[in-house]
Amino acid sequence: MRKVRLGIVGAGGITNHFHLPELKQIEEAEIVAVADLNENRARLTAQKWAIKRWYTNYLEMLERDDIDAVIVATPHPTHAEITVSALRADKHVMIQKPMATNTRDSWRIVEEARRRPSLKVMVLPFVYFDTPVYDYVKDILLQNNIGQVVMVEALTSHGGPEKYQEEVASMFGEKVDIWYFDKNRAQGGALLDLGVYSIARIVYLLGRVKSVFGYLTTLEKPTGLDDNNMVFLDMEGGALAVAASSWTQKPGENSTSLYGTKGTIFINKINTPLMVFLDGKGWLIPQLSKEKEPQHTHRHFIKCIINDVQPLGSPEEGHHVVQVLEAAYKSASTGTVVQIT
Ligand SMILES: NC(=O)c1ccc[n+]([C@@H]2O[C@H](COP(=O)([O-])OP(=O)(O)OC[C@H]3O[C@@H](n4cnc5c(N)ncnc54)[C@H](O)[C@@H]3O)[C@@H](O)[C@H]2O)c1
Repeated sequence: MRKVRLGIVGAGGITNHFHLPELKQIEEAEIVAVADLNENRARLTAQKWAIKRWYTNYLEMLERDDIDAVIVATPHPTHAEITVSALRADKHVMIQKPMATNTRDSWRIVEEARRRPSLKVMVLPFVYFDTPVYDYVKDILLQNNIGQVVMVEALTSHGGPEKYQEEVASMFGEKVDIWYFDKNRAQGGALLDLGVYSIARIVYLLGRVKSVFGYLTTLEKPTGLDDNNMVFLDMEGGALAVAASSWTQKPGENSTSLYGTKGTIFINKINTPLMVFLDGKGWLIPQLSKEKEPQHTHRHFIKCIINDVQPLGSPEEGHHVVQVLEAAYKSASTGTVVQIT
C-alpha cells in the first residue's frame, strides 16, 4: 500500500484537534514531522502523537525528501509564504482557511501552483461541503427544482475564539495569547476567520461573485478587528446573497438558506441538516448522512495524491474567496460597492 508522508507546519489548536486526530486514523498517512516557531508546541505535539521529528524552522523540515505533502496550519497571514515554500520544495499542500489575507498572497499561491501542475493543492474549506447534503442541494439546483435562485443567506458564527485559544494554551502549559484579536498577527477578524466559510459555501453552490458591499462592526470583543459583519454579494448568476459571520453568537450557526422562484432550501437550520420546500410538494426533510466517510478532509487529500487527481478547493477557487474577503474589507472602509475583476 502506498503511504503519503506528511509534514505539518503549525502545532497549535487545529493541528492537535483536527489534523492529527484524523490523520492518525488513516492507514495511508504517515506523519513524518511537525514544525512550529514555538519549540514547546513543536516538541510536545511530536511527543503526544508519536511523531519522530520536530522543527522550529519549517524550511528545514521542507528540505526532507521523505515528506510528500505539507499541511499549513499557522495563523492566516503566514499561509501564503509557507505554501509557496512548500510548493518550491516539491510538496503537495493542504492550506487551512483562509487561504490568504489578501489577493496578492492568494495569487502568489495560484501562480506557484500553476508552475507545478503535478502537485496537489487543496484549499480549505471547500472539501467540507463535499457531503451528501450539499450533493443533494447541488442536484436540486442543477435540475432547476427550486427555479431561479434569487436570494441566499449564509451565516457562520460562534461565541469567539478566546475559549478555544485558552484550551490550546493550557494544553501546552502556556499563558493565553489570542492572536485572532491582534490586527498585526491576524489582519482581519470574524470575517477572515468565519466569513470565509459563508462566502465559500455561497461560491460552492452558486459560482462567482460580481460585486461586494460590506458592513463590519466590533460589538463585544476586546479587539480593533470586526467581531460581526454582513457582506452583500451580487452574484454573476443574478442572485443576491448575504454572507454573514459573528464571534458573538450563542449557539453558533453554520446555516445556508437558498430562496428560489419555485422553492426554498434550508441547510443546517436549527439542527436540521436539510429542509426543502418544492412548489406543489410542500416541505421535505430528506434523511441524509452528514459526511461521505469519516476523516473525509484528509482522506480526500491523500486519495488525490495517490490517484494523481486535483483535490476539491483549487487555488483559483480559494483566490476568488479571498477576492471577496478583500473587497468586503475595502467596501466597509470606503462605504462603496467593490467590483470583483
Ligand atoms: N478548519 C477549521 O475548522 C479551523 C479551525 C480553527 C483554526 N483554523 C485555521 O487554522 C489556522 C491556525 O489556527 P489555530 O487556531 O490552530 O491557531 P493556533 O494559534 O492554535 O496555532 C497556530 C500555530 O502556528 C504557529 N506558528 C505561527 N507562525 C508560524 C510559522 N511561521 N512557522 C511555524 N509555526 C508558526 C504558532 O506558534 C502556533 O502554535 C488559522 O488560519 C485558522 O483560521 C481552521
